[in-house]
Amino acid sequence: MIVGICAEHQWNPVERRVALVPDSVRRLVEKGFRVIVQASAGTAASYADDDYTRAGAAVVPTADDVLASADVLCTLTYPLPIASQLRQGQVLITLVQRWKHAQSVDELLAKGVRILALENIPRTSRAQAMDVLSSMATVAGYRAVILAAERLPRFFPMLVSAAGTIPPAECLVIGAGVAGLQAIATARRLGAQVSAYDVRPAAQEQIASLGARPIAIDIGTTETETAGGYARQLAQEQLQRQREGLAPYVAKADIVITTAAVPGTRAPLLISRTMIAAMKPGAVIVDLAAESGGNTELTEPGCDITTDEGVTILAPLLLPAQLPQHASVMFSRNLANLLLLFATRDGIVFHTDDEILRAMLLEQTEAKDA
Ligand code: NAI
Repeated sequence: MIVGICAEHQWNPVERRVALVPDSVRRLVEKGFRVIVQASAGTAASYADDDYTRAGAAVVPTADDVLASADVLCTLTYPLPIASQLRQGQVLITLVQRWKHAQSVDELLAKGVRILALENIPRTSRAQAMDVLSSMATVAGYRAVILAAERLPRFFPMLVSAAGTIPPAECLVIGAGVAGLQAIATARRLGAQVSAYDVRPAAQEQIASLGARPIAIDIGTTETETAGGYARQLAQEQLQRQREGLAPYVAKADIVITTAAVPGTRAPLLISRTMIAAMKPGAVIVDLAAESGGNTELTEPGCDITTDEGVTILAPLLLPAQLPQHASVMFSRNLANLLLLFATRDGIVFHTDDEILRAMLLEQTEAKDA
């Protein structure tokens, strides 16, 4: 079986990650797979073409060359500009975001390309080693705090110096899933005083275990978690109670990292324009929910704004691409684990009742509706 890897900056100029790093290539080659890599695919993540050759991959000049021979094309993001070249019998493994690429996905499925959606990997213990969403959320949570530190006009830690004592920065994290917990840990390491809030009661204990102060807000129900462990979508009245409960914490924070998301819906609006106006001048918000609409009323996805009151709101998109080396290492290990579990040297074995593969394999829309 031939696994193909492309240089993804060709369809997204800010992309700097690569789907397989040389270490994972070596693992796959040792198990009898062949790997074909487009030239310069790993350069921005600090991996040279020679590293891939030494690991046993064949390096080819163009994406067309990769598509001509690969049985399985693996990418971090949906390869829209080259997707139509995929042929019947080939397999695409990627973070699909089907709602965004519906037409292309349907076309591929209709012509017999199999698509495995990495975002559909179940959040179970068995699937953990393949969970790219958690890996990328970990990178985003870390990077969000570093972005905030770069923009904050003050220190994170407490300093005792000849110039007097400087108190630690106050950091508030809203949404304590994978990204939020990593943001808490990173802000704590930099010396900030951290408090955090999540709508799922189970998150309180995880927040406290990282040394942050959990915030509790009565929204009139504790039925806030789905059977799958995700947050439920709240009613407008419950969201209003959240905003009122969060307002005093937001007002005294120097840094706010927001990560609140509900899969398949717009991100909840947790910080209003009025709450931002009441923040300290120089305060920084990093809104990690920008991809799904944002957690603040002023979020402009992909933009960086500063209000008249001097509050900066960063709404980065594709944040893991800003830490390309380790983001690639984590993604690549997850991907190699997946391939080694489901593929043989002859190809991916689809005739299986495996719950992970079943969850990932996309079906044609008509077939689903029937
Ligand atoms: P996510 O990216 O869907 O959401 C981020 C966070 O926002 C979640 O913690 C969610 O509860 C919170 N949130 C949503 N609406 C909110 C609101 N109105 N106010 C405040 N917070 C709100 O979540 P993520 O990070 O993907 O994790 C989802 C769940 O899956 C978590 O319980 C996590 O612990 C669990 N998980 C389990 C894994 C496993 O067992 N293998 C692996 C990864 C995550």
